[in-house]
Amino acid sequence: MKPTILVTGGAGYIGSHAVLALKQAGYRVVILDNLVYGHQDLVEKVLQVELIVGDTIDRPLLDRLFASHKIDAVMHFAAYAYVGESVEEPAKYYHNNVVGTLTLLEAMLAAGVKKFVFSSTCATYGVPKTVPIPEDHPQEPINPYGATKLMVERMLADFDLAYDFKSVCFRYFNAAGADPQGLLGEDHSPETHLIPLVLMAALGKRDSVSIYGTDYPTPDGTCIRDYIHVTDLAEAHILGLEYLLQGGDTTIFNLGNGNGFSVKEVIDTAREVTGKEIKAVETDRRPGDPPMLVGSSDRARQILGWNPQYANLKDIVTHAWHWHQKRH
Ligand SMILES: NC(=O)c1ccc[n+]([C@@H]2O[C@H](COP(=O)([O-])OP(=O)(O)OC[C@H]3O[C@@H](n4cnc5c(N)ncnc54)[C@H](O)[C@@H]3O)[C@@H](O)[C@H]2O)c1
Repeated sequence: MKPTILVTGGAGYIGSHAVLALKQAGYRVVILDNLVYGHQDLVEKVLQVELIVGDTIDRPLLDRLFASHKIDAVMHFAAYAYVGESVEEPAKYYHNNVVGTLTLLEAMLAAGVKKFVFSSTCATYGVPKTVPIPEDHPQEPINPYGATKLMVERMLADFDLAYDFKSVCFRYFNAAGADPQGLLGEDHSPETHLIPLVLMAALGKRDSVSIYGTDYPTPDGTCIRDYIHVTDLAEAHILGLEYLLQGGDTTIFNLGNGNGFSVKEVIDTAREVTGKEIKAVETDRRPGDPPMLVGSSDRARQILGWNPQYANLKDIVTHAWHWHQKRH
């Protein structure tokens, strides 16, 4: 029988796509999500796996969960991920992302579960010194959100040395797109990511989309980001899990597209895909926005055999558009 995987944050955007991929690969799945941002309707109607509504910081709940389910590995998506909010309310972020994760790791150790796939972020790098960014690039986060993820990375390195606890840590660039079959997609509230904001403007749910800065040292003056299709991210999680289950060592991988797209390119692609007039308002730069964030994912390709299927921006926006029309 295939192993059973605990997916924290499995009712959220990336976690739900990973659960779908796990199910399709034949794994048994249990979701732990506090539903602060997750969508119960998608778990019940689409994923149809067991959902435990609870928090990673609730140690008694975790102990009961590990005692009542034979968990073979954990995929940990649960976190707060709003960069701006993390600057205003750092305590909330250290509490949830660091203390919540430490509580989960301690419960795993107590239960003898020692395989862990972790959602880290390119925000741990801070302002890049080289692009594309390799995994050994210095990590100097410029906001509390990035710092919380870096702290967990450090914990995982120390846990491996002390407890033989094996992890795969994925540093995602910008997750984007939606399940190509239209079953799942991005539904954050509040929404801060560019592609859904642009598509909300296309749907008439927003008046316009803002372009923060047009004087960056990039070909069209707007910031360049690396958008990676969420289904490709989910596939990488299956490969990372299998790598650990087969005895793979603790490893960190970037997950990005390898191609950067500017804010203007995203808006133009959305105009083409939707056929809608999307009003863009040019405004000042935001502090802390590097001109270009693009990752090198060569390590994931070489070690995991990861081969993203939807690297094309038009595919990413098209899948997201189908989802947004259906959801909203
Ligand atoms: N979206 C991106 O582009 C991106 C980029 C880099 C890293 N990440 C990381 O990927 C992960 C998933 O991101 P997402 O965009 O799917 O976010 P999301 O908010 O859609 O999903 C996170 C889920 O975790 C749940 N959750 C949060 N704290 C919890 C806790 N303490 N206990 C139980 N459940 C909890 C939320 O209810 C939500 O369902 C996060 O760890 C995030 O930091 C995301």
